[in-house]
Amino acid sequence: MTVSDEVRARLQARSAEPPAPEPVRLPARRFVDRSFYEAERAEIFGKAWLLAGRVDEIARPGLYMTWEKTRVPLLLVHAVDDVIRCFYNSCRHRGAPVVRVPRGRNRALRCQYHSWTYDTSGKLVSVPDERDFVDLRREERALVPVSCEVRNSAIFVSEAPEVDLNNSFGTAGGELSVESGGLRTLDQRSVTIPVNWKRVMGRLLASPAALPRPGAGDLATTAADVELLDGGHLRIVAPFDDAGASALGLAGPLDWTDLSDADLPSVHGLGPMLSSTATTYLFFPNLFVTYTPSGIFNFTVWPGDEETTLLEATWLAPDWGEEDSPAETPAWAGRIEWAQAQLDAAAAALAGAQDEMKEPARQGLSLQDDSEAVRLWNEALDAHLRGVVPPDTLTGAAPGEVRSPLPT
Ligand code: FES
Repeated sequence: MTVSDEVRARLQARSAEPPAPEPVRLPARRFVDRSFYEAERAEIFGKAWLLAGRVDEIARPGLYMTWEKTRVPLLLVHAVDDVIRCFYNSCRHRGAPVVRVPRGRNRALRCQYHSWTYDTSGKLVSVPDERDFVDLRREERALVPVSCEVRNSAIFVSEAPEVDLNNSFGTAGGELSVESGGLRTLDQRSVTIPVNWKRVMGRLLASPAALPRPGAGDLATTAADVELLDGGHLRIVAPFDDAGASALGLAGPLDWTDLSDADLPSVHGLGPMLSSTATTYLFFPNLFVTYTPSGIFNFTVWPGDEETTLLEATWLAPDWGEEDSPAETPAWAGRIEWAQAQLDAAAAALAGAQDEMKEPARQGLSLQDDSEAVRLWNEALDAHLRGVVPPDTLTGAAPGEVRSPLPT
């Protein structure tokens, strides 16, 4: 039985017998305490493989860009030997940033302070007045590397990986045959929201995006099939409703077939389920990937601190080569407008949410029965934090705890 068959069978069974609601509580301290956030930084963002960008952003040897989404200054370099590498952006002389501009191109990376110079493989290649540095061994002063791997043209980094990148994707990586390596960043935009990142994650998980499809009008979805996969990843398959299925030319919401979007180049390898539903894969911890026959949409969610979140929206389209970017065409302009509307809606919906969570009487969030994905994701998060944060801050902990600072 294929994944698609299993999902369809569960969806058919579900419509006959809706699951009983199981309210689950998320304690307020998860969202407001600084030390809970610090634990997330250390145990999750300090270890997980994180999407840092795409090769098309540093497409040619010598191009580099700084990357600080986890608040750790990193430097991504397309080295002259054609390998994408990542380093801490910290000079091995006195720790100044080696690169001070967000993007650039050079065959060598020269620190502005005292001109120590590194090649694009991180090797220290030049030290002015080197004789003044007694016992300096250049080979011991290379830039400090950070694990960096490229998969399907996406660049992932991890400061302390516990498994290699391919293993980290687990089942989710194995069941996807989408050829996303030929895609290119068409548009990227973001919004900073004054709320804990888990509230943003919760919003996106509870109502996954039904991406606009050219000529199909507004598409609505029905209850999703949610499955927790190994590694904490989630597959969320939301069939379109009858009207949506009809607008897409499907015989019914569960009659999936290979679709394409009229007049737009196709993303290859989607298969019937991904092209006929609103399917999102959440790659733990913070990357949402949603599919259409002609483009892929990502949300990435980055905590700035315990009460600030950067929400980033990215559209990827089949590479348009030397042609003009299709961003101005009506179909893509509409999709970009839609992405901006999603960011605006998230910011509006979560305005004031952080202050509400700080109210002394507030004991947390009670998840509704349609929030299965939110619960599963929070539990996956807890799997990394258990033993590090107090038990009464974990998903489902009983209400009534005394609010006090977490031990540090
Ligand atoms: S701190 Fe970089 S050369 Fe001195």
